[in-house]
Amino acid sequence: MKHEIVERNLGLMVGLIIVVVSLGGLAEIVPLFFDSEVTEPIEGLEPLSAKELEGRDIYIREGCHVCHTQKVRPFRAETERYGHYTVAGEFAYDHPFMWGSKRTGPDLARVGDRYSDAWQRLHLYDPRSVVPESNMPAYPWLFEQKVDPSYTADKMRALRTLGVPYTDEQIENAAENVRGTFEVEALIAYLQQLGTALPEKR
Ligand code: HEC
Repeated sequence: MKHEIVERNLGLMVGLIIVVVSLGGLAEIVPLFFDSEVTEPIEGLEPLSAKELEGRDIYIREGCHVCHTQKVRPFRAETERYGHYTVAGEFAYDHPFMWGSKRTGPDLARVGDRYSDAWQRLHLYDPRSVVPESNMPAYPWLFEQKVDPSYTADKMRALRTLGVPYTDEQIENAAENVRGTFEVEALIAYLQQLGTALPEKR
């Protein structure tokens, strides 16, 4: 029996398993590299502005992604609650992705424009003042610290090497555009654009 040869020979079996799994993986993954639906940005997608980009970095620094995902899965329960499910082209300029994996709080992929800036300020200063049962931490220091403008242009240049279409003008003006901005303003600018590029998002 030929399969006995494989079953009694651990090295051979492991080798063959690796071959099968690799072929299966390649068959699933490789076509995605050539599918424009997952590689091209959606129409009208804009790179983050200087202020939004600094907000994104505060989002990372404060660990918002540890409690919040940015990915609406294509299930009824999710689309009813959050809006249109997430499509790959929305993230073409995201480096790194902020998809996250744990939802202690709600998904934020479509939170842009959902609340006013004033609500966001109150919520970040003292979440329980607007959502009494909230267990989200308060971030009062964002209201005291200002964005450091010295690296904004470099960050944009680095993103441009990854294919984010920043213009020379945007990079030149980056520092000026964030100078004097409180961290909370930058963070809210970032939050308010989340998920707004997809027109059918609601
Ligand atoms: C310890 C977990 C935790 C962390 C860290 C956290 N959040 Fe939250 N967040 C929550 C929970 C829980 C809620 C739901 C209750 C509420 O609205 O406060 C929430 C709600 C929100 C909402 C409202 C979402 C909606 O659809 O109603 C926003 C916006 C938000 N968080 C932004 C942030 C930002 C920005 C940060 C980082 C500065 C952050 N969160 C960090 C747990 C967290």
